[in-house]
Amino acid sequence: MKNIALIVGSLSTPSINRAVGEFIVAQFPENISVQNVQIGDLPLYTQNLDSQEIPAYTRIRQQLQTADAVLIVSPEHNRGIPAAVKNVIDIASRPFGQNLWQGKKVAIVTASPGAYGGINAGLQIRQSLQSIGADVLTSSEVFLSRANTALNDAYEVSDERTAGFLQKFATAFLAWIEK
Ligand SMILES: Cc1cc2nc3c(=O)[nH]c(=O)nc-3n(C[C@H](O)[C@H](O)[C@H](O)COP(=O)(O)O)c2cc1C
Repeated sequence: MKNIALIVGSLSTPSINRAVGEFIVAQFPENISVQNVQIGDLPLYTQNLDSQEIPAYTRIRQQLQTADAVLIVSPEHNRGIPAAVKNVIDIASRPFGQNLWQGKKVAIVTASPGAYGGINAGLQIRQSLQSIGADVLTSSEVFLSRANTALNDAYEVSDERTAGFLQKFATAFLAWIEK
């Protein structure tokens, strides 16, 4: 039984990225368990908080520690990494010496209504995670452009081509985790 932590980088409702993330994890077989890592209530990280007991920090650190792999599905904000995503990366990288990203398998997906699919955010997330030792999936990438057009009114992935593409990604991600 593999355990995957899903981080959706958008705090919006509805969210294109949540829809894409939920579609991907819905492709996983039953022997894969998925934990939704909530990042909206995490206080903004500073190292002064290392000496304090912050329940929301403890919660996400436990979720990430026990995860065999992490799937991040994120929007791009102003050509960069959303603040909430950077915050969870920072929180799980500290206190110094307790970096949970070291050796962690992470796949990154970005989605945007724009033409570039949030690629800047995707590459920035990758750069940050690689700098702290994460094992980032790079052979299978998703930067989903015009992602809004792939959803129906209920914010579900309904476009067949996109669905097929995301199914292939889900399969490649799971095969990589099993390696
Ligand atoms: C503060 C802000 C900055 C944004 N900057 C970008 C951007 O640089 N590139 C882009 O493709 N979309 C940008 N967008 C548009 C988002 O792609 C769009 O809001 C999308 O719906 C976000 O994904 P979500 O629905 O999962 O929140 C921005 C949106 C916000 C709120």
